[in-house]
Amino acid sequence: MPVVPVDIAGAPYEVRIGTGLLAGLVEQCSGRLRKRRVPVITDAQVHAAWGAVVESALHQGGHEAAWRILPPGEASKSWEQLAATVDWMLAEEVERGDHVLALGGGVIGDLTGFAAAVLKRGCHFIQLPTTLLAQVDSSVGGKTAINTAAGKNLVGAFHQPALVLADLAVLDTLPRRELQAGYAEVVKYGLLGDAGFFAWCDEHGQALLDGDASSREYAVAHSVSAKARIVKQDERETTGLRALLNLGHTFGHALEAQTGFGARLLHGEAVALGMVLAARFSAHRGFMPHASAEHVAAHFAAVGMASEVAALGLNCDGHTLTRHMLHDKKMDAGTLPFVLMKGIGEAFLARDVGLDEVAAFLDQELRR
Ligand code: NAD
Ligand code: GLY
Repeated sequence: MPVVPVDIAGAPYEVRIGTGLLAGLVEQCSGRLRKRRVPVITDAQVHAAWGAVVESALHQGGHEAAWRILPPGEASKSWEQLAATVDWMLAEEVERGDHVLALGGGVIGDLTGFAAAVLKRGCHFIQLPTTLLAQVDSSVGGKTAINTAAGKNLVGAFHQPALVLADLAVLDTLPRRELQAGYAEVVKYGLLGDAGFFAWCDEHGQALLDGDASSREYAVAHSVSAKARIVKQDERETTGLRALLNLGHTFGHALEAQTGFGARLLHGEAVALGMVLAARFSAHRGFMPHASAEHVAAHFAAVGMASEVAALGLNCDGHTLTRHMLHDKKMDAGTLPFVLMKGIGEAFLARDVGLDEVAAFLDQELRR
């Protein structure tokens, strides 16, 4: 079983990757579950698919689950659900030394992590990620957050999990579209720093999406290792290294905002399109060969994902999209850093990109 250490100073932990980890939950948590009742936060869809496995694993280990089951979807990352979840944890008498389990995708992981960060000034939590996106990205690195009326993920904390158990079996019940959305974050690691891994995605990405177990294990372990290397060097995103993990996210965020952050365009789908735009903009700026940028677009098209913004039928212009970018968390003294590429596997942070230039580029892409 691949075990990836995340060597963050003062808060090191492991990401364990394998099939059947939820069924062996109590053993995997190795002594961290101190009390009979174990608080588990999840959403209704995940509970329907995996609640019985977790319930039975806890029962066999001499525990009982205390469930908090939230509505599925982004709307659960709210002040209201945060307050209600913290109140529920207090009612469950969760102590600072206790571990709360987050069973779900990025929504559940982000909300539970934030609740754990503020409960009695911080209790432990264990990530049990159930989407590909959560396994390769959101469960690792300690970013936790909720959304507010002003925007997504604007309120949160850095709070590292005590352990991450990525059970590959859960991916079998994940809807194909969600799997593809998570796959965008897998490809991201290749594009930002590892041309060899992008080549692996070219060869094995389709098999991964079609359910090939060894491809899934390799992709999750490789992605988590890449993220662990970055966050251990720049946990708080202060040096610019961790910012590279936002490849495709500034363009993608504008597309998500324009489509209302809903089912019309999932986060990972927006990131895939955002990476195509970042690649083409990099080529437009002369950093990256045009052929490499088109290789990125062709990769997503080959695995059945949208690769052309024009096909979204957004009915807006480039300036409408760049206006969304002004609300980006990464805005720094009036400038917005963009993650661009010098080639596949060679991302860098560009701080001299003008939004008018981006808007003109997007006008072309919207009409492409
Ligand atoms: P999600 O948590 O909303 O899950 C997607 C859908 O899949 C939900 O309807 C859920 O009920 C369902 N689902 C989850 N696992 C399932 C399973 N195994 N079987 C069947 N259905 C299942 O979405 P997500 O894509 O996992 O996460 C998106 C969130 O993650 C966003 O809020 C984003 O901001 C956040 N995020 C955070 C980080 C971070 O570093 N903290 C990184 C990337 C994304
Ligand atoms: N998902 C981006 C980060 O963790 O920094």
